[in-house]
Amino acid sequence: FEDSSTASKSVAKEIAALIRAKQITKESCVLGLATGSTPKSLYAELVRMHREEGLSFRNVITFNLDEYYPMEPDSIHSYVRFMKELLLDQIDILPENCHIPDGTLPKEEISDYCAGYEAKIKAVGGIDLQILGIGGNGHIGFNESGSLQNSRTRLVALDHITRVAAAKEFSGLNNTPRTAITLGIQKIMEAKRVILMAWGEGKANIIRAAVEGEVTTKVPASFLQGHANAIFVVDREASKFLT
Ligand code: F6R
Repeated sequence: FEDSSTASKSVAKEIAALIRAKQITKESCVLGLATGSTPKSLYAELVRMHREEGLSFRNVITFNLDEYYPMEPDSIHSYVRFMKELLLDQIDILPENCHIPDGTLPKEEISDYCAGYEAKIKAVGGIDLQILGIGGNGHIGFNESGSLQNSRTRLVALDHITRVAAAKEFSGLNNTPRTAITLGIQKIMEAKRVILMAWGEGKANIIRAAVEGEVTTKVPASFLQGHANAIFVVDREASKFLT
């Protein structure tokens, strides 16, 4: 797409069409959602469609990819707060249908919690559509370089490059979390449809590596080359190194 705004509108249209199709058949629509700067314009468009076009989210169930750990949900840095402000509190989705990894758990409870998170996704029939951004190192969710294709939902150490990218929001690297809970690559790969979005020339190198490079744990997004129904939605700048 020429720019991120047109691109986001196109993704929003696809999501709206899926939600409405599922309403006709009285099914729920399970969305996997990302945070970060990339999906902001998508969420703004979905909120607009809710307000101006009557798009209802009553049949939607959401699972977010990740959350920093430790993290209180009411912190300005939390992804719970991000999702509420930009999307969830702005639409008619049922609060009990919204899932975001819990950054407040004692460490020893995290692995059971993560298994439960995956079980909840399974219980609702899996993710119909997974939205992804991409890190400068090729991470998806917080599955950093080195993550395996069958990795499960888990507590991970954040890469230095990921922490540097987040440091501005946390007013310095020392305040930036070192760990996070992320959905594993296995569940992302099991989603029926995956849309990875990327904007700006800062993402151009990694988009080329993910789309045209070898499939490697070094670039977790490259695993999507093996997904039967995944697309990358990019603006002109992010696409500039694609051959
Ligand atoms: C966020 C997430 C991350 C981001 C990625 C890109 O939930 O899973 O993988 O999508 O770090 O971040 P932005 O969009 O801020 O460039």
